Amino acid sequence: MGFEPQIVGFLCNWCSYTGADLAGTSRIKYQPNVRVIRVMCSARIDPTFVLKALAQGADGVLICGCHPGDCHYSEGNYKALRRYPLLKRLLKDLGVDDDRVRLEWVSASEGRRFADVVDDMTEKVRRLGPSTVRVG
Ligand code: FES
Repeated sequence: MGFEPQIVGFLCNWCSYTGADLAGTSRIKYQPNVRVIRVMCSARIDPTFVLKALAQGADGVLICGCHPGDCHYSEGNYKALRRYPLLKRLLKDLGVDDDRVRLEWVSASEGRRFADVVDDMTEKVRRLGPSTVRVG
């Protein structure tokens, strides 16, 4: 059997989690490789959460939040967006392929988009192969 990536998905409660829920209730089929962790806002996702997920064996980390301008807390997703390039640079410095981490905007009505993002990311991480970051 081939390599099946394990991807941790941090989804904001107000848009992306609802979008993922919609994908489920709409019975849209997508890759089963993402383990979802619901957070209240994408701003809640401290870069250390991402590093910890990778250190504990995740092959990829998906961060999803509301579209710019739609954050339930006004500016949370802009904070996430500003942190993202810094996180990518840190990952590069640590020798981690930065394609293993991805930030996407998914609204509550975008079940199809959530499924497409998951399928695309799963395929890209599958091509990268297992992560070698695991600690311990
Ligand atoms: Fe969704 Fe802030 S509540 S990104």
